[in-house]
Amino acid sequence: MKIIVAGTGFVGLTHAAVISESGHEVYAYDIDKAKIAAYRSAEREQIERYVNEPGLATVIAENIGRYLFFVDDIKPIIEGTDAIFLCLPTPPNPNGSSDLSYYFKALNDIAPLLANRVDQRRIVLVNKSTVPVGTARQLERILKEHDVPNFGIASNPEFLPEGDAVERSRRPDRIVIGADTEEDLRIIRRIYSQFVNHVRIRYIETTPETAEAIKYVSNTLLLTYISFWNGVGGRIGETFPNVRMEDLKRGVTSDDRISTWGSYVSNGAGGSCFGKDIQSLIYQLQTAGQSADLLQSVHNINEYQKSYLLERAVAEAGINFNHKSVALLGLAFKKQTNDMRDASSLKVVEGLLARGVREIRAYDPLAIHEAKRFFDPNKNHLFEKITYHETVQEALRGSDAMFISTDWEEFRGISRTIEQCVEPPYLVIDGRRMIPDFEELVAHGYSYLAVGSPYLAAGATK
Ligand SMILES: NC(=O)c1ccc[n+]([C@@H]2O[C@H](COP(=O)([O-])OP(=O)(O)OC[C@H]3O[C@@H](n4cnc5c(N)ncnc54)[C@H](O)[C@@H]3O)[C@@H](O)[C@H]2O)c1
Repeated sequence: MKIIVAGTGFVGLTHAAVISESGHEVYAYDIDKAKIAAYRSAEREQIERYVNEPGLATVIAENIGRYLFFVDDIKPIIEGTDAIFLCLPTPPNPNGSSDLSYYFKALNDIAPLLANRVDQRRIVLVNKSTVPVGTARQLERILKEHDVPNFGIASNPEFLPEGDAVERSRRPDRIVIGADTEEDLRIIRRIYSQFVNHVRIRYIETTPETAEAIKYVSNTLLLTYISFWNGVGGRIGETFPNVRMEDLKRGVTSDDRISTWGSYVSNGAGGSCFGKDIQSLIYQLQTAGQSADLLQSVHNINEYQKSYLLERAVAEAGINFNHKSVALLGLAFKKQTNDMRDASSLKVVEGLLARGVREIRAYDPLAIHEAKRFFDPNKNHLFEKITYHETVQEALRGSDAMFISTDWEEFRGISRTIEQCVEPPYLVIDGRRMIPDFEELVAHGYSYLAVGSPYLAAGATK
């Protein structure tokens, strides 16, 4: 099949690379010429500057020039195309609704090319972007307005988790296709032929609107579950003495009906999707006259969670951050990615700067390059207070307190490193519960404040 993937961010690049492994002729297209040039080089370092996913650079290197091609212009390749996957950004507007301007701009660029095709074979436009319910129908209307002949529309939402994108694209738990006609479903089945009759992968065919809704319900349900643990489990652990969070989790999730995934407490769930998708669904329901109270509470809990540990540090540990130096371990929104969109670290930095810290000593194994973009001193001179460090040790030295914001494995059991680098009195703020032997730290004079536990002052026995 000849396929165009429009938009080569996390979703588009991964999708293009992985479907090219099936021997399709895949053209990955983006208006960002610098990005396309970087991908075309097939050099790991260049690719990972934009999308850093385990195994992705290798898949690209193996398929480029044979099955996978990178283009910044689709006009020359539009003839003979069977499908165009739209993997375009759909960021939130200030009122929470989805900003579809990138999406419609791309469509308005592509539609005239489709209208002028010589071959006029059936072509399916497949939405992979997360878009409000009913958007595929708008897509159909736009293409009709441009007199595009012989086309179909489909919705194929993407569920890949960042940090494991390649593996999960190769072995998804489900493929959801919403389309109107058997002809279009058949074209998409040929693209995904390795998944259609797979014993473990559910291949679901439905209407475009249902497929769009499946994406929103899935993401908001996952965030609801995470927020339940933070807003209920976490609060219980922080309020009542002697409740052990890890035992609570094990006890509850021993029930087969209750998921272990998401049954942890943390300083909030970030990333480019959860926050934006829940706000978009709230907006979609409310503008349709429905209540979205549950979703609104979930969103509020998640946002509160991102920086409430700073409030606890002031109220419970009595720390005044003014003129203090704080080591910030982890900037990415989760481990195994360099993505910082909506990361909790953004809220932590904001909160620390607002409290007048002297310095933020930041460390992250992958996201420093991204962080420098997010914390550009030209946008806010206070970002000059952020210094970047190549090791945990370097970040810790000279600090008065530390904050673990990302669940990188290298932060797990970090207590000995802390003891080697900084002397008490010292406050350890653990947003990910990464220090199982925290009691030893406390016995050695460090104070410990973790999500899901009461504050432990230096020397406390419980
Ligand atoms: N990131 C995820 O984990 C994830 C998971 C599931 C779904 N999604 C959804 O997938 C969509 C894409 O997300 P993403 O994270 O890949 O976004 P992204 O911002 O990383 O990438 C989007 C790409 O589209 C390109 N682009 C913008 N306008 C264009 C145009 N007119 N023509 C061609 N290319 C254009 C941009 O240059 C960029 O490279 C969003 O709707 C998102 O909600 C994302």
